[in-house]
Amino acid sequence: MMRSVHSLLDLRGRRALITGGAGYIALAVEEALIELGCKIALLDLNMADCQKRAKALNGIKKGSALPFACDLASEDQTRSVARAAIKKMGGLDILIHMAAYGGDTRFPGWVVPYPQQTTEAFDRALKVNLSSAFTISQEARAALEKSKHGSIILFGSTYGIVGGNHGLYKGTDMGNPVGYGASKGGLIHMAQCLATVMAPKIRVNALSPGGVFSGQPKVFVDRYVEKTPLGRMAEIEDMKGAVAFLASDASAYMTGQNLVIDGGWTAW
Ligand SMILES: NC(=O)c1ccc[n+]([C@@H]2O[C@H](COP(=O)([O-])OP(=O)(O)OC[C@H]3O[C@@H](n4cnc5c(N)ncnc54)[C@H](O)[C@@H]3O)[C@@H](O)[C@H]2O)c1
Repeated sequence: MMRSVHSLLDLRGRRALITGGAGYIALAVEEALIELGCKIALLDLNMADCQKRAKALNGIKKGSALPFACDLASEDQTRSVARAAIKKMGGLDILIHMAAYGGDTRFPGWVVPYPQQTTEAFDRALKVNLSSAFTISQEARAALEKSKHGSIILFGSTYGIVGGNHGLYKGTDMGNPVGYGASKGGLIHMAQCLATVMAPKIRVNALSPGGVFSGQPKVFVDRYVEKTPLGRMAEIEDMKGAVAFLASDASAYMTGQNLVIDGGWTAW
């Protein structure tokens, strides 16, 4: 008999590991998973931030979130923290990679005009945004295989699909370094590469948001909205349905794809 949509989305008994788990969009991702019954381990740079987020999530549902500090620029830390988190949860069903050097990251040679962007910043961002996704997926493979519902979600971006529109940033201290788009394009393609090597036991997809509103300057928001068919920036809530779909059996026959949640930004 066919399962109901409710049953396909049910994540009770499942366990997720989320990198960049103390971040802005991660809150919506974590809430969605917890609302569907999942337990999560959230991993980010700073332990105090991880604990704060875990406390808030445990306020929604007791015992649902565990904090782990980890610098994803270090392969050793990435592997050992992933192992510890999986052990603590007793297995793993879902891996979500969200950690990133983005437009808010302060690192010399990063959010600066193209001629001043440095190879050091580019390499560092690639390590966190892209290489760590490779490492942690490899480390999580055995546990995800055991799950029988293994799903990996790599956070891409519209800027992994198209180049930066730099006119948007004029008159602000915002920016979109070349390394950001390059890393996000890499993640979207890596979802295809990993999907083929992880099949048939683990599915791997990318989720690419468009610009998410987080109090950016009005001049930027007005320009962004003008270029977006749905006439607004994304809210973090817009990611909840996409994550629920990709993480659960609702997308059981989908792998190697990129789900774009961008209000139509890349449609024209
Ligand atoms: N905000 C947007 O408009 C937008 C648009 C498209 C895609 N995305 C993607 O969505 C994801 C989440 O974005 P966000 O806006 O919530 O960003 P965010 O900066 O709030 O979250 C990213 C998290 O990654 C963590 N991180 C950075 N370096 C790390 C390291 N070395 N080790 C461990 N953790 C590290 C940061 O501490 C931060 O908590 C990112 O992958 C981003 O590229 C965001």
